Amino acid sequence: MESIKELSKEIPQAVISRLPRYFRYLGELKDEGVTRISSKELSNLMHVTASQIRQDLNQFGGFGQQGYGYNVEYLYHEIGKILGLDKTHKLILIGAGNLGQALVNYMNFQRRGFLFCGIFDNNPALCGKKIRDIPVQPMENLERFVKENDIDIAVLTIPKTSAEEVAGILSECGIRGIWNFAHCDLSVPSHIQVENVHLSESLMKLSFRLKSDARI
Ligand code: NAI
Repeated sequence: MESIKELSKEIPQAVISRLPRYFRYLGELKDEGVTRISSKELSNLMHVTASQIRQDLNQFGGFGQQGYGYNVEYLYHEIGKILGLDKTHKLILIGAGNLGQALVNYMNFQRRGFLFCGIFDNNPALCGKKIRDIPVQPMENLERFVKENDIDIAVLTIPKTSAEEVAGILSECGIRGIWNFAHCDLSVPSHIQVENVHLSESLMKLSFRLKSDARI
């Protein structure tokens, strides 16, 4: 039988991008003590069609049983495994400014297994300062820290002017993933996964929808 990992290679990106939302809803149901749910009930809750849910989950071999629905706990754990949340990810932050500090201070990432282990900044005035007990270190320590601590993800909260250069250093250190908040698209080797987060783009989409609403 194919493993979940092998199957997930062919899964459409659109399905993958919906999995975190399934995971979140199932986690809430689990916390409320719900043990099973039909695709119809899940569909009402999530405001997506039951057929979309069945199609999405069938990509991974189903998980549901006719007449029973889905076992909430099992599905939650299976989706967690597909998303790689069954292991701890070790993170470093680069750029200990306003945004970077807010991210490190947000406790929920840790609950999901994303652990900030190191913080780096090129401003000497910040070095030594602690954010949630993690000292800010100078950039000179970066390479050794990543190698010695088996870090897999770097969070970039630095200006776009230096993001490309820092991404280059990270790729040489063996980082496998970059969560990029800098306002630029990074060119990195293909073995490094980059996830861009642009809050302003999300706001622009909202602005567009408000504009469209006003025309109705
Ligand atoms: P900030 O100025 O408070 O913090 C930036 C930090 O990066 C500073 O501590 C600075 O010393 C450090 N830094 C600059 N160049 C560096 C380098 N080469 N190596 C190491 N550290 C370096 O800025 P803020 O508000 O925290 O924003 C950070 C970046 O994130 C900005 O470029 C901003 O445009 C972007 N941003 C992106 C958002 C998004 O949704 N993607 C939302 C908000 C900000």
